[in-house]
Amino acid sequence: MSNLRIFGLGSSIPFATQVAEAMSIKLSIHHEERRPDGEAYVVSKDNIRGCDVFIIASQYGDNFETVDEKLMKLCVFVNTLRHASADRITVVAPYLSYARQDRKTESRAPIATQAVAMMLEAVGMDRLLTMDVHNLGAEQNAFRVPIDNLEGKKLLADAVSASVDGVSNFVVMTPDAGGAKRAKDWQSAFQKRIGRPVGFAYADKTRLGAEEVSVKIIGDVSNSQVIIIDDMISTGRTIGEIGVAVKENGGELWGAVATHGLFVGSAHKWLAKVPRMYIADTVNPFRLLEAKSLQTQFENSASRWSRQNILKVVPTVNMFASAIHRIHTEGGSISELLED
Ligand code: R5P
Repeated sequence: MSNLRIFGLGSSIPFATQVAEAMSIKLSIHHEERRPDGEAYVVSKDNIRGCDVFIIASQYGDNFETVDEKLMKLCVFVNTLRHASADRITVVAPYLSYARQDRKTESRAPIATQAVAMMLEAVGMDRLLTMDVHNLGAEQNAFRVPIDNLEGKKLLADAVSASVDGVSNFVVMTPDAGGAKRAKDWQSAFQKRIGRPVGFAYADKTRLGAEEVSVKIIGDVSNSQVIIIDDMISTGRTIGEIGVAVKENGGELWGAVATHGLFVGSAHKWLAKVPRMYIADTVNPFRLLEAKSLQTQFENSASRWSRQNILKVVPTVNMFASAIHRIHTEGGSISELLED
């Protein structure tokens, strides 16, 4: 009998169920609750002694639990499984929180990425599987355990290239110098799929505050259809401001592509003029889907674009299932899985 066990925590249970189904196994059973004082209580109902355990828990805040509540619950569960004699514990965080706080940005600023790594390792995590983490080098330095970082590039490039018929003058844009490699890799994947060259431009984004950025375009976007590539959309301000700058520089924003769609704060307002967004399903885009202004945008554009064409959510379940299979059997390379 296989010693593979897969758990899903909280709002990641539907995603984890799909991953387990894709691997033709049953999701392992656990019980989780919030104690009356708010503490997390989480217990495995399956025997996991000697097992290779994967805990799927995407680390975004939602209407049920904050980012920190999810993190604490995950720590408690990892520790619970360690004490229940699991052989190996892999945390699967399709979206990993605190990834942007990866260095001191001012005197005495937190390096929260490292704090998270230390917590998860201290409670007994043996490996981490995630996707398009903000700064892979910083994570690799923060964690001492092995990290496998999946990429949404192929899946997102497939989805975008399936809907670009007739457009020839694309320019791929990175919203900041730090994202240039990600955007260049995406440009290659996209060119390969559509069979024609695509331009490249930079947005020089200066962050003035948590929700405030200023943007300068470097490169030629005139008479072009611009696709912004980012690892995440958070408040939407970056994409919104770049959209305005693209227009001022004679181009048109075709759409935005990002792995993680957090859509916090006033994202629905900043993104109201973005014609198309492609995201992966690592974060549930419930905030954007519930936002009134986007509903109106869907309705107004119904004749040209269906609701699905404004926000496309690209599934990553099969990629996570393949990665877990490869890690579990130690029978395949993750880089081969990501090869394009
Ligand atoms: C920043 O370095 C990231 O790559 C994203 O560009 C940023 O987090 C997006 O944030 P927002 O949507 O709040 O502008």
